[in-house]
Amino acid sequence: MNILLLGSGGREHALAWKIKQSARCSQLFIAPGNPGTAGFGKNIPMAVGDFEAIALFCKQHHIGMVVVGPEDPLVNGIYDYLKADPAFSGLIVVGPSAEAAKLEGSKAFAKAFMDRQGIPTADYREFTKENYDEGMAYLKAHPLPIVLKADGLAAGKGVVIAQTHEEALSNFAEMIVSARFGAASERVVVEQFLEGVEMSVFALTNGSQYVLLPEAKDYKRIGEGDTGPNTGGMGAVSPVPFAQGIFMDKVIERVVRPTIAGLEKEGLVYHGFVFFGLINVGGDPYVIEYNCRMGDPETEVVMPRLKSDIVQLFKAMDDGKLDETEVEIDPRAASTVVLVSGGYPGNFEKGKQIKGLDAPVSSDTIVFYAGITGAEGDLRTNGGRVAAITSYGKDINEAVEKSLDAIKSIGYEHMNFRKDIGFEFRN
Ligand code: AMP
Ligand code: GLY
Repeated sequence: MNILLLGSGGREHALAWKIKQSARCSQLFIAPGNPGTAGFGKNIPMAVGDFEAIALFCKQHHIGMVVVGPEDPLVNGIYDYLKADPAFSGLIVVGPSAEAAKLEGSKAFAKAFMDRQGIPTADYREFTKENYDEGMAYLKAHPLPIVLKADGLAAGKGVVIAQTHEEALSNFAEMIVSARFGAASERVVVEQFLEGVEMSVFALTNGSQYVLLPEAKDYKRIGEGDTGPNTGGMGAVSPVPFAQGIFMDKVIERVVRPTIAGLEKEGLVYHGFVFFGLINVGGDPYVIEYNCRMGDPETEVVMPRLKSDIVQLFKAMDDGKLDETEVEIDPRAASTVVLVSGGYPGNFEKGKQIKGLDAPVSSDTIVFYAGITGAEGDLRTNGGRVAAITSYGKDINEAVEKSLDAIKSIGYEHMNFRKDIGFEFRN
């Protein structure tokens, strides 16, 4: 089968690496891809938001499966756009419909869904211009800290954890009155602050059946010891040692099953990945957020640990056979350490020449490209997150050590990374 993968980050490099291992994959195309994905298929200069061009490309190249990496095209309705065309009745689109993608695209939609389905999450209220004054009064009486979330997609920047009432009030005003995140912050969710350790669980579902993929924990802050501003993700590990046994049973009973049952009850068309962003509050899981796609950099540890053929899993999803499908997982641990541009997540320069990235690495290490342009021999930085260095190990400690070792031979001006990925689980 010919497959089209949409996206250009480390997540898509990891997906391309995995998809290309499948005997079911004939030609793989990646749009727009990066110099890393070019090693596994043909990069096509086509924007993930250009649905018309994507549809035409699918027809011209006999594409049987479209795998959507990032959230934007999903929230903007690529599933519905493609499936509305009778020519695509047999096309497998890995990703939810626009209505179901609201689980990520609208925090208020996700909260109301969890309320209806009895899924544990922080208590909340939502506010717009209409009930702005009520919101100000609500914030003044709210215990600290206060979590404010822009309702819509804000490239991971729409959440504020206010430590004082003044901070909460000024952020609330900026979001609603000054439209700091444009239409995304016309509505604001104010929620209870939950204290605990975060982790992520991933399912592949067709809206009634599901399979679980390896879980992961990512490290969002720029600084070691989880300090400084949030980033897209500085590293990840899998498995998550505390997310086994009773805790995982609770995740399945209280979160995963009711979510999938909720999709079915509410008629939400969903053929793709569900990313459950969870927090462990005293041994009980709460949902912090849903994402309607795989995580980045979580994919860079989840795909390496997935032994099953991913194209076969997508096919089983489409055929309604996930219930009969066993997912095989590599018992080794995996870690990924993300190399970023100096200054990120603030201002940074691009175009720095990268040395050592294409040199042979050990068989336990895989280099996934993210913000990189150019070709082998002259690779240049082209984003905040530049590459994700993934390694296997007998445990998390060994996996992270191997990634750090591999990084020693890589360099570019102002390269930055965290040496403490997986710190809670290391010795
Ligand atoms: P989100 O975009 O919803 O994932 O939120 C970004 C980050 O804000 C999360 O990864 C958490 O670290 C934090 N966060 C969000 N909601 C809460 C909450 N209710 N309590 C504590 N931390 C939160
Ligand atoms: N690493 C978090 C995300 O992909 O949203």
